Amino acid sequence: MEPMRDPGLILDVPARRPLAQTPTPVHYLPRLSKMLGAQFYCKRDDLTGFGFGGNKIRKLEFLLSEATQQGADALVTCGSNQSNWCCMTAVAGAVLGLDVYLVLGGPVPQKDTGNIRLARLAGAKISHIDTADDSVLEKASLDLESSLKANGRRPYRIIMGGSTGLGSMGYVHALYEIMAFEKSANLSFSTVIHATGSAGTQAGLVAGSVLGGWGGQIIGMAVSRSAAAQEEKVRAVLVQMLSRKTIERAKVIVEDGFVGAGYRHNTEACAEALEIFSRVEGLFLDEVYTGKAAAGLIAYGRTGRFRADENVLFLHTGGTAQLFE
Ligand SMILES: Cc1ncc(COP(=O)(O)O)c(C=O)c1O
Repeated sequence: MEPMRDPGLILDVPARRPLAQTPTPVHYLPRLSKMLGAQFYCKRDDLTGFGFGGNKIRKLEFLLSEATQQGADALVTCGSNQSNWCCMTAVAGAVLGLDVYLVLGGPVPQKDTGNIRLARLAGAKISHIDTADDSVLEKASLDLESSLKANGRRPYRIIMGGSTGLGSMGYVHALYEIMAFEKSANLSFSTVIHATGSAGTQAGLVAGSVLGGWGGQIIGMAVSRSAAAQEEKVRAVLVQMLSRKTIERAKVIVEDGFVGAGYRHNTEACAEALEIFSRVEGLFLDEVYTGKAAAGLIAYGRTGRFRADENVLFLHTGGTAQLFE
């Protein structure tokens, strides 16, 4: 893989370390399209190749490329107890022969389920702090990095969600895959809809759309924050990636009408979306991310936000281990 060079990028991007099964498939959703009166497709980033798949491996392809370049022998990161990000870091680290240290927020679980079970199976060394405060977890992760260094180790620490400029390059690639699909299928999407949390997925897609000259809109369905707060988070990642001139063309669109009471609080619309997607298209979603994004898509469809001939792409970002918590 060649390093990525583009005059619009301010990052020094190392060659991608291929780990995921990409390009991920894109397919038509015939029954959902009929139900909602527009042309819906799904890009299957739930099938990225490790464990239950998901979006995080695309970020890790760039981050772990840097980690190996720096001679790292361990990875350190943090997240909530059932973090998809932490699980994926555990699996990717295992594949590269790196020790993986996870600091998880929340009470020590009575039993390993969902992502904790998978991360432990993959050999991660897990510690718990009973907090929902991200800054406490990041601080503990920094302390762990220092103590590993003091013991002669070479840890590579990654912030929660891997949503740095470098990690988000993974979704620049994903947007290029979407453009390649459009070309091969001779169609164009008006809209990409996906769940947005730590913001790297959306920042990467938006950066990719500007760099690649893609004309559609990218709607991030917030899962935890107000639209204003989430937009700011996406822009904070974009400034790490794009030159000032390029960033002027970046459109960041966030919908916060489907967050409900907050992160990890299920909503009726989300529960309905899980049922619709599995019963109509055989697609499993999760209750934290993709279910809320799909709830937004369904509501937009029902309220006539899309024309009958409009092609809309739902980006399935994974997370389905949540169903086994
Ligand atoms: C399944 C799933 N979908 C979407 C997201 C949101 O991606 P990002 O954190 O890059 O905004 C996450 C983040 O944890 C996730 O786990």
